[in-house]
Amino acid sequence: MSTRAGASDVVRVGVVGTGVMGTDHARLLARSVSGAELTRVTDLDAGRAQALATELGAGTSPDGASLVADPEVDAVVVASADATHATLVLAAAAAGKPVLCEKPLAPTLAEARDVVEQLERDGTDDLVALGFMRRFDPAHVELRAALHEGAVGAPLVVHGTSRGVTAGPGATSESSITGSFVHEADSLPWLLGSPVAEVSWQAPRCSSEAAEGLHDPQLLLLRTADGVLSTVEVFLNARYGYDIRCEVVGERGALALAESTQVVALTTRSTGLARSSGFAADWRPRFADAYRLELQAWVDGVRRGARRSAPGATGAPGLATARDGLLAAAVCDAAIRSMRAGGSWTSVEVPA
Ligand SMILES: NC(=O)c1ccc[n+]([C@@H]2O[C@H](COP(=O)([O-])OP(=O)(O)OC[C@H]3O[C@@H](n4cnc5c(N)ncnc54)[C@H](O)[C@@H]3O)[C@@H](O)[C@H]2O)c1
Repeated sequence: MSTRAGASDVVRVGVVGTGVMGTDHARLLARSVSGAELTRVTDLDAGRAQALATELGAGTSPDGASLVADPEVDAVVVASADATHATLVLAAAAAGKPVLCEKPLAPTLAEARDVVEQLERDGTDDLVALGFMRRFDPAHVELRAALHEGAVGAPLVVHGTSRGVTAGPGATSESSITGSFVHEADSLPWLLGSPVAEVSWQAPRCSSEAAEGLHDPQLLLLRTADGVLSTVEVFLNARYGYDIRCEVVGERGALALAESTQVVALTTRSTGLARSSGFAADWRPRFADAYRLELQAWVDGVRRGARRSAPGATGAPGLATARDGLLAAAVCDAAIRSMRAGGSWTSVEVPA
């Protein structure tokens, strides 16, 4: 880790991409994460990057490559579009700089495999962390701890739900899997301690709100190597709010994320013989703690020179690794192959 003379305990971070996630990460790094200093931001939209830089007292770089190479940047957060991740991760690793890359590692399994192969060949895979922030979400962490303590006995069935308000522009059935379902592709094996072995894609009638090319909602069935069956509903155009659920049914009981973790309004309204409370319009309020804790763990790891805070899928809550990103990409790839094959059970093929 290279650091500014006299400030060796501060990690100077550059953020690539200043859209929704990059702005959130940059603000957290500048205001809430101890031991971090936001020094550079960049975006294809230079005006957007400049506005954020001005707000947070950082500088701008002309592009991602310049930001990675900048001597004022010790470590890099990649929060640009999915298709840019692989190149930026490899550039940061080649420069010897730790990088926290938003999910996915790459949009396809072949690209994710190429990235991991290159990193492992160069011995730089330990510089890379993936933004699977559910591993830091207090509710998911508590659910996993209770499960591993044996609170409900062996897990048998999991029901996962991932609903958003409206699909982003250009969303397709495939991008719904690689962009949204990829969170479950990582969090379910992390939760259950067993890899996903096979996937079946299913779909009900399509919502009339879905654009051409997007089947919405989709239902994924996942079987882990130890036989647990999970259902995951991914519904991008659910309209009513951002809603993430997970219930694990075990031999002696059930564990679920508390309903209150969905609610972001500070008050409930009781009126007209009904009681109501609020949902978030997007993922940021629901996972605000997770993003902050993830960034703090990453910066702490960089400061310790450990490069990452803990091993990935099998360790105590820790950052996801590039290989975890590859495993998640393999699950998504099986889901897409199942979709194209009309829903048949499809094996997850993880490149060696
Ligand atoms: N972990 C999570 O919960 C979560 C949630 C949403 C999005 N994401 C991921 O975060 C990333 C960003 O998503 P978003 O919602 O902020 O999207 P966004 O469209 O709001 O922002 C992306 C930004 O990246 C910029 N950009 C694109 N290519 C670039 C390049 N080559 N160099 C510099 N900037 C570039 C765009 O101009 C845009 O400002 C995506 O990979 C997405 O999958 C993660």
